[in-house]
Amino acid sequence: MIKNISIVGAGNLAQCFIDRIIASKGKYKIFLYDIDKKKNKYSSIKNVKFFSSINQCFTESQLVLLTIKPHNFKSVSKDINEYGDKKCTVISLMAGTKLNVIDKALNKNFYTARVMTNINAQFGNAQSFIFASKDFPRNRFKSLINFFKLFGVTTRVNTEMQIDKLTALCGSGPAYFIYFTEIVKDTFKKFGFGENEAEQLSKNLFYSTGYTCYHNNNNMKDIRKTVVSKKGTTEAALVMMDKKNIRKVIMESIDQAYKKSIQLGKRNND
Ligand SMILES: NC(=O)c1ccc[n+]([C@@H]2O[C@H](COP(=O)([O-])OP(=O)(O)OC[C@H]3O[C@@H](n4cnc5c(N)ncnc54)[C@H](OP(=O)(O)O)[C@@H]3O)[C@@H](O)[C@H]2O)c1
Repeated sequence: MIKNISIVGAGNLAQCFIDRIIASKGKYKIFLYDIDKKKNKYSSIKNVKFFSSINQCFTESQLVLLTIKPHNFKSVSKDINEYGDKKCTVISLMAGTKLNVIDKALNKNFYTARVMTNINAQFGNAQSFIFASKDFPRNRFKSLINFFKLFGVTTRVNTEMQIDKLTALCGSGPAYFIYFTEIVKDTFKKFGFGENEAEQLSKNLFYSTGYTCYHNNNNMKDIRKTVVSKKGTTEAALVMMDKKNIRKVIMESIDQAYKKSIQLGKRNND
């Protein structure tokens, strides 16, 4: 049973996890580790203990979440080997880093898996994907799935290549949508709306359109068609987007994220 959780790296993703655990009043004790003491934003929260280096508390954890950047893993792996309880599960959230690299650095002493998720974990709306080897114990896997349910929907994937592709799409995905929404915000401003109004209007547009797509049973193409009337205003914008090949540019850009996750994996293999 998962009672104590060690989170290594108190950056963006870790903070989403912790916010959600706190908000859901999950009865977990969290040991949070980051080399940067300024990342301790939870001093007023009783069940979150912050440390600037891995210590004896780590030994008491049934679950370890690695929310560090891939290039920091080598040094962290030494501490996990020294302090980790061999019965604990070590989950890597790191982009690219392959499971065999993690297992090798941890001397195959721990149960390990990779999870890809995104910042939507903060409010329990993330899509998370788990990759574990075939011999990962079934009960342990069940309790892992159960734990990640706290952050949204969780699905098992059978290959690491899927994790790398999902990293480029679901892990990075929120940034693409926000990027587009920021462009819409800039256009609001260009049209004379003030900063706060432009921020709020574009956020509302983003949220309400997502809500409609999610709840409407039609596919997105058909929903889009309901906005576009022949020779109308929306069509004028979309024709320009097609002319400028925006679709191709975006697909090629997301491909760069996938290539980067493969590259990160290769670098960490050396
Ligand atoms: N952010 C996302 O939306 C997202 C989504 C999916 C997956 N991921 C993956 O999750 C991982 C973390 O991403 P992030 O955006 O949260 O990164 P981040 O904000 O940079 O957080 C990483 C934290 O780890 C700290 N750190 C570095 N070395 C450490 C060590 N030896 N011990 C303990 N802490 C250490 C960093 O400190 P310094 O800043 O001082 O180095 C930083 O505070 C990455 O591998 C990323 O690929 C992120």
